[in-house]
Amino acid sequence: MARTPLLMGNWKMYKTVAEARAFAEALGQQSQKLDSRIEYAICAPYTCLHVLRVMLPAQVRLGAQNVFPEKEGAYTGEIAPGMLAEFGTKYVLAGHSERRMLFGESDQFINQKIKAIVANGMTPVLCVGENSSQKEDGVTKEVVTGQVLQGLDGLTADEVGRAVVAYEPVWAIGSGKTATPDDAEEVARAIRAAVAETWSPEAAEGLRILYGGSVKPDNVASFVREPDLDGALVGGASLDPTSFAAMAEAIKGVLE
Ligand code: PGA
Repeated sequence: MARTPLLMGNWKMYKTVAEARAFAEALGQQSQKLDSRIEYAICAPYTCLHVLRVMLPAQVRLGAQNVFPEKEGAYTGEIAPGMLAEFGTKYVLAGHSERRMLFGESDQFINQKIKAIVANGMTPVLCVGENSSQKEDGVTKEVVTGQVLQGLDGLTADEVGRAVVAYEPVWAIGSGKTATPDDAEEVARAIRAAVAETWSPEAAEGLRILYGGSVKPDNVASFVREPDLDGALVGGASLDPTSFAAMAEAIKGVLE
């Protein structure tokens, strides 16, 4: 696999500082399970970023779950990209389906966030995915590639080649249901083809594509084994340090 595999946790609105500290300590005790050929990140609530920066094993990078696409200003309750970058945040999620659905985020707004993340030297993780009625209608690839092209619009080929896309079928998130590895691979391949056509084959080759939606220690390898899937974005199963380390070991097994 030419691309570095990425195991990324999305904690959503879970964990106090004390709980995040306990996670970091417990993961630290299992850090021999974190193979250096794999990259790791935790997208945590803002209040947990400090304790994680200090306490997580060095292999695990910091991620944020959201950002507002302006440098500063009267935007009560929002966080600026420069604030996250200054803090050492490497990854920022944009377009998670919960934000699209609960907060009405449009592809255009998500694109503004992606541009702001890149302009501040961080790596965007653009989340895309079809809902259950789109799946039933057989329009998954059109929906997903449309979200990718709109989300990454205006980036250079180099920037796209360094970005991350997380393919997360909406119906698979937190439901215990997953796409089959074959179906997820087919969508990932369609994303790569659309990127190759719109930017360049090199951009498509560099872009990392994660699968997300009910990923667990016992199914993560089946996705990462697919040639166009480079890792996983994990919600529920990333909250427990032993489960996070077990997913790391399962991905390591794919590399061997
Ligand atoms: P889940 O969430 O692993 O709990 O299904 C995935 C996500 O929302 O990124």
